[in-house]
Amino acid sequence: MDLAGPFAGFITTVTIVATLLYMNGHFRQQKYGLVPNNTEDNGGLDPNGPDVQFILYKRNSSPFNLVLHDQTKFDESRFNKSSPTKIIIHGFLSGIREEVFTLNKDAFLKKADYNVIGMDWSALCEFEYLSAMRGAQIASQYLAEMIEWLVMQDVSLTDIHLIGHSLGAHVAGMAGSKLTSGKVSRITGLDPALPGYYERGPQVKLDPGDAELVDVVHTYMKILGYAQPLGHIDFYANGGRYQPGCPDIYDIWKIGESLHCNHARSYQYFAESILNPKAFRCRRCSSVEEALGENCFEDTDIYMGEPSTYRNGLYFFRTRNSPPFSPPP
Ligand SMILES: *[C@@H]1O[C@H](CO)[C@@H](O)[C@H](O)[C@H]1NC(C)=O
Repeated sequence: MDLAGPFAGFITTVTIVATLLYMNGHFRQQKYGLVPNNTEDNGGLDPNGPDVQFILYKRNSSPFNLVLHDQTKFDESRFNKSSPTKIIIHGFLSGIREEVFTLNKDAFLKKADYNVIGMDWSALCEFEYLSAMRGAQIASQYLAEMIEWLVMQDVSLTDIHLIGHSLGAHVAGMAGSKLTSGKVSRITGLDPALPGYYERGPQVKLDPGDAELVDVVHTYMKILGYAQPLGHIDFYANGGRYQPGCPDIYDIWKIGESLHCNHARSYQYFAESILNPKAFRCRRCSSVEEALGENCFEDTDIYMGEPSTYRNGLYFFRTRNSPPFSPPP
């Protein structure tokens, strides 16, 4: 399906509405159907807390709510200033109980006792998309303040890595550009959101100026995800357009599932790369079209995901159609 043409507007509207309905139902069930009213079982979230909360996860300990500017709480926490800090930021209609957070958090903590922080801004993105876009700006302000505050606690910016999915990728980018103390070492954008962000200025979306290293994974470009490169290094999974194993978008009954599946693959691949750094070997491409057409032939020893074996540019990698996604050599 090509979104250029006379039906572009119609098809885009139908797909966006279908995703919203699907994701909204899924999200509400997660948030209100299953969540006990108890902070511990609630992943550390405080139901009466601010709209944006930062929950610290460490090995062998309960989720800990890091309250911005609360020194006593910070000192009580198991935050380790000599360990890398990974801040994971979900997208539209999501939260820290969702897979985007749990898959990556579990993989990171299995690898090492990092400071894994789940940023929950679900209160600002649980209604419709336009208010979520405004919510993303507010959330990025909180995130920038949290980072500046960590820096005041002697946490080094070189140890901070932001990982954002969809709208969360732009939240990370906007926060990165607001910092006055310097740049974070890395922002990973996982299928950064396209709707509402096409051709917008770098102040409101992810761009290479937002961190020392900006790497981006594209899995569903031109529909929910951004197609143009947004980082120093941009990975186009299976061409960046559709992911193998996801339901066909032509199947009208599965359209919501198809949208969710393709968009979610970005964080599923990333999570797999945390424990298997050589899971996704890349070929270099000279343009987005070349990646889309799977016409990239220059072999590299660059791998998509958590390992930062980087040389600027565009890259193609292949996956299997179900987990583990790493293809056979
Ligand atoms: C903090 O992290 C450093 C580096 O990863 C590690 O060597 C040290 O043991 C950690 N400290 C604690 C109290 O866990």
